[in-house]
Amino acid sequence: MVTLEKGAGERESPSSPTLDLDDIQATVLRYRPEPYFGTHVLLRVDDVQGGREFLRRLSPHIDSAAGWWNAGDAWLGVGISYAGLEALGLPDGSLQSFPEAFRAGMAARAEQLRDLGENASGNWDFPFGTGHVHIGVTAFSDTAAKWRRTVAVAREQAIGFSGVTIIHMQDFGAQPGSLNPFGYKDGIGQPAIEGSGVDPLPGQGRAIKAGEFILGYPGETGFAYPMPQPDMLGRNGTYVGFRKYQSRVGTFNRFLQANAGTPEERELLAAKLVGRWRSGAPLTLAPGADDPLLGEDSQRNNDFDYSTDARGRQVPLGCHMRRMNPRNARLAQLTDVNLHRIIRRGTTYGAPYDPDALSEEEDEVPRGVYFLFISAKAMATLEFLQGEWINDGNFAGVGDERDPMVGLQPDGAVFSIPQAPVRRRIHGIDTFNVLRGGEYLFMPSLSALKWIASLS
Ligand code: HEM
Repeated sequence: MVTLEKGAGERESPSSPTLDLDDIQATVLRYRPEPYFGTHVLLRVDDVQGGREFLRRLSPHIDSAAGWWNAGDAWLGVGISYAGLEALGLPDGSLQSFPEAFRAGMAARAEQLRDLGENASGNWDFPFGTGHVHIGVTAFSDTAAKWRRTVAVAREQAIGFSGVTIIHMQDFGAQPGSLNPFGYKDGIGQPAIEGSGVDPLPGQGRAIKAGEFILGYPGETGFAYPMPQPDMLGRNGTYVGFRKYQSRVGTFNRFLQANAGTPEERELLAAKLVGRWRSGAPLTLAPGADDPLLGEDSQRNNDFDYSTDARGRQVPLGCHMRRMNPRNARLAQLTDVNLHRIIRRGTTYGAPYDPDALSEEEDEVPRGVYFLFISAKAMATLEFLQGEWINDGNFAGVGDERDPMVGLQPDGAVFSIPQAPVRRRIHGIDTFNVLRGGEYLFMPSLSALKWIASLS
């Protein structure tokens, strides 16, 4: 019997896992703890032998997904970019077996990702897009003490020999109430995964075939996605879209003030942009007023669909959450929504949300979110979401409107809020979260990590 802890919801499940949890990295399935503390460490491989030695030292400390439902703990995960796999001297045949988008790298996929204008790689923070990010190690923890110990373990493996250099470290986490930089509770909506050993939470929908998220298993079409070769390199691995956002809190607060007269109206507008109140309570279940207890309750806070809200009068058709998971909403462009689900590990960094931060300078105070978007076809999933569901609105019947939270907004962008008798069109939508970097990473299984480390 399995009981999920905080963050994933408290529940029991009779299912036995059918996935090879001992070989899959914990980060793929384990939910972010609550509260959470952590660090992203980015490294460059300076020579082949040194890089392999680092992986040899690190791999015993990378946690498996066995018992992933015990959310409260500390663990390390690792991903490797294509440039990293080259620097580690993978055989040519293996390198060529990776998908083209992964080989090109995130910066080169700007057109497909719509990472243009202020989101373009020319504006990214070091070391993103330089070709020097070879290995990314992330430490997650539920206490500050365990976090420090876990990061120290990761660092120790890189110290004392030449071969790898730490080129960037970023701490994250532990906002009061685990709120994101705009003050919203996040990390709620996640796909349930077949064979992972835990039944879906109420409203989570049916479990999605594991092959959508982990290589080597059948996906929603009944077939497994192609794996990097040899099979033992690909199986139980997955891909990660790693993205750094800077949250422009001053711009966001000024937008709320300009378009809503009272604090209550501002909260409602903030809820309409996302589809949930900042407490996490979904607008579908709490359309008129916030319900913080509902927001906290993982048995209830995801238990809804859009069948009674076809016109978007409760949850706007173009809001962030309805775009990112339209559930059973009728779409203008037919697609199977279960082919576009993604696992998210959002990690908030910087100062907590400040509702009184209004100046332009506040936009540049370092704070935002590093995301790990995980899927067995992460590049295709992310590129689809960015291109079709975030930076366009036709699929949802809202024309050229873009996702108000994460879209790259043109001048004069608007956001429609359906209501009777006439819809409200809100002006002044800006690019509230600016992309400041990103990399495509391959997250190998534990056995594949050892295989890479032992290449000669
Ligand atoms: C800094 C940028 C972003 C912010 C501030 C943000 C914020 C949020 C918030 C507040 C929620 C609702 C709570 C929850 O379900 O966790 C949410 C849900 C979600 N977001 Fe984002 N998000 C960001 C970027 C993205 C991007 C780039 C993607 C996809 C590529 C994405 C995909 C999703 C998904 C799939 C959901 C869950 C929808 C559901 O299952 O109903 N988000 N996000």
